[in-house]
Amino acid sequence: MTRTLELEGIAFGGDYNPEQWPREVWEEDVRLMRQAGVNFITVSVFSWPLLEPEEGRFDFGWLDDVIELLHVNGIAVDLATATATPPAWLIRKYPEILPVTADGTHLEFGSRQAYCFSSPIFRDYALRLTRAMAERYGKHPAVRLWHVSNEYGDHVSRCWCDASAVHFRSWLRGKYGSIGALNEAWGTSCWGQHYLDFDAIEPPRESTGPVNSTQRLDFERFSSDAMLELFTAEVAALREVTPELPVTTNFMSILHDLDYFAFADAEDIVTDDAYPDPADPGAHIDASLNYALMRGAKGGAPWLLLEQSASAVSWRDVNVPKAPGVMRLDSYQALAHGADGIMYFQWRAAKFGPEKFHAAILGHRGEASRTFVECSALGAELQQLGALKGSRVVADVAMLLDWDAKWALAAPDSLPTNRLSWIGQARDWHRATFKLGVTVDLVRAGADWSGYKVLLVPNLYLATPELAAQLEAFAAAGGTVVVGAFSGVVDRNDHVHPGGAPGPLRPLLGVEVDEVWPLPDGQSGQVLMDGVRYEVHTVSEWLDAVDARTVAGYSGGELDGRPAVTNRQHGDGGAWYVSGALADAGMLTLMRRILDESGVPVRDGAGPDVEVVVRRGADASFSFVLNRGTTALDVAVPAGAAVLVGDAAASGAVPGSGGLRRLPARGVLVVTHDHSDVVRVVAESARLQAV
Ligand code: GLA
Repeated sequence: MTRTLELEGIAFGGDYNPEQWPREVWEEDVRLMRQAGVNFITVSVFSWPLLEPEEGRFDFGWLDDVIELLHVNGIAVDLATATATPPAWLIRKYPEILPVTADGTHLEFGSRQAYCFSSPIFRDYALRLTRAMAERYGKHPAVRLWHVSNEYGDHVSRCWCDASAVHFRSWLRGKYGSIGALNEAWGTSCWGQHYLDFDAIEPPRESTGPVNSTQRLDFERFSSDAMLELFTAEVAALREVTPELPVTTNFMSILHDLDYFAFADAEDIVTDDAYPDPADPGAHIDASLNYALMRGAKGGAPWLLLEQSASAVSWRDVNVPKAPGVMRLDSYQALAHGADGIMYFQWRAAKFGPEKFHAAILGHRGEASRTFVECSALGAELQQLGALKGSRVVADVAMLLDWDAKWALAAPDSLPTNRLSWIGQARDWHRATFKLGVTVDLVRAGADWSGYKVLLVPNLYLATPELAAQLEAFAAAGGTVVVGAFSGVVDRNDHVHPGGAPGPLRPLLGVEVDEVWPLPDGQSGQVLMDGVRYEVHTVSEWLDAVDARTVAGYSGGELDGRPAVTNRQHGDGGAWYVSGALADAGMLTLMRRILDESGVPVRDGAGPDVEVVVRRGADASFSFVLNRGTTALDVAVPAGAAVLVGDAAASGAVPGSGGLRRLPARGVLVVTHDHSDVVRVVAESARLQAV
């Protein structure tokens, strides 16, 4: 059954915590929400202690009033199940609900989300509240979306308490069936770890030295599954009462700990909380990768930005505000990448608590606050963009994300280098595609990749024969696969593949890795490509190009003259292997070459501060041009295109007739046009280039 969010136009609003304010403030809130163009509000995220002030006694009166007030003012509701924060009475009655860390520290009540997701006691109480919420509000016309819990894995994503141990054992029993199979998979003949029965197994707590890596990997898988189990239990309780209402739980961008592909399968709409750091000049590049996951999690379907900050956050060491125009750019970036809604944490800035310095739509100064002025202006603009809804991002290039492989490489010890991570490699590769103006989707194993020309695999440390076969089929069908260093090393159980790396990827890549040569901190190696030397960091490899062509070789050091980058043709397609972590310049050169040879158009000239993304709807396409730079751009708008959002007056063009439009620094341009048209972007100083 497809459940969609029934809402007119683009969703715009945020988290609202009326319980922190006296009732007379609520009227003002709703008046100002309307003034700002708000049409969607999240409530009751942390309200459990107010909704169930004593065990079994529910007090819904105040929430009834809030929802009704929003409703009569035409504002729809994203209703949280309120299960994110168990009340003090529950914790005092059952202190065993509290989480325990790997070194045995018991975490206390006093912050939020203080529960173990494996606790059966917590689950029973949470499900009772969920059912009560569904029965009370499920049929209310204002309620359009269920928001289950809040940011699973925030604060606590792994728990080593006794309930977790029991849960882990039963998960292992289900997975392995017999203790013999577990001993085999975990390689317990090493270091004398043989188990006689499942009851002897503990979660991987702090030990005397490196802990069994397969035990750790299974604990990663288990912990994600355990949170998913809790989520799906809440979803099932909601569906019993409100089978027609869509369900979400808010993601935290590319979070390491949870397999968001599995979570996305269990929800109707993907939602994300995104907090790019205004102090980081490259934050927008990483945000673009995060958003690639949000649409990739449901095969390209639109998603919602459920939380962002109107300006500064309160949880970094130094919380820098967003300069004027940056929040707007961030918002359009999410829309460009497939979001159908722009929401904030939170509506009104708090007076007390750990988030009193967190920005909000309505700042402490009230209507006069810069955030209110900027957010209201954005709210008015978004009202013109309803046609965008449902359209999907167009991309020729995909990047593979496999949680199993990511977790396996994240072991804290016992690897050739602890410095290599999937996210580090993915960001390096994505930075290159971003600078070349190429939109990338994040995809999972087993998905349909047939629409892409290039598939990037920055790392696949853990590789299965099934995934290797899918990669080979993609290349055989004319696609280009690009695989990064230290891939195809281990199997599902974290055992080295027979013959060593790249294991099952050997037929695809045509190379064999003899030894990994990690680079010590602060040291780099060199690769010679087309007569130019480029730096490699973190990792390099002693590689033999057995059935592949050497495209670039190592230069200097112990690996001098050995292959570094290789290519193997497969019919019309091919496979590249990049055996060292290339620093930015080399990655950019190589990526440009691979994309060129694969027929993917790249953009030059406008630099990393300019992003162009296209969404395709049923009847028209939408081009977004985001200029984070300090200089203006001229953007060539095709004849017949309509400018939906544009900061600047046309320079020599009337809206609707095409021509050059000047886009100022921090400006946004959104144009709708025929599917066949493109918008051309030019840095003032650069040549005209088609994108
Ligand atoms: C998370 C939480 C919110 C709030 C914000 C602050 O996203 O879901 O409740 O704490 O962080 O940035």
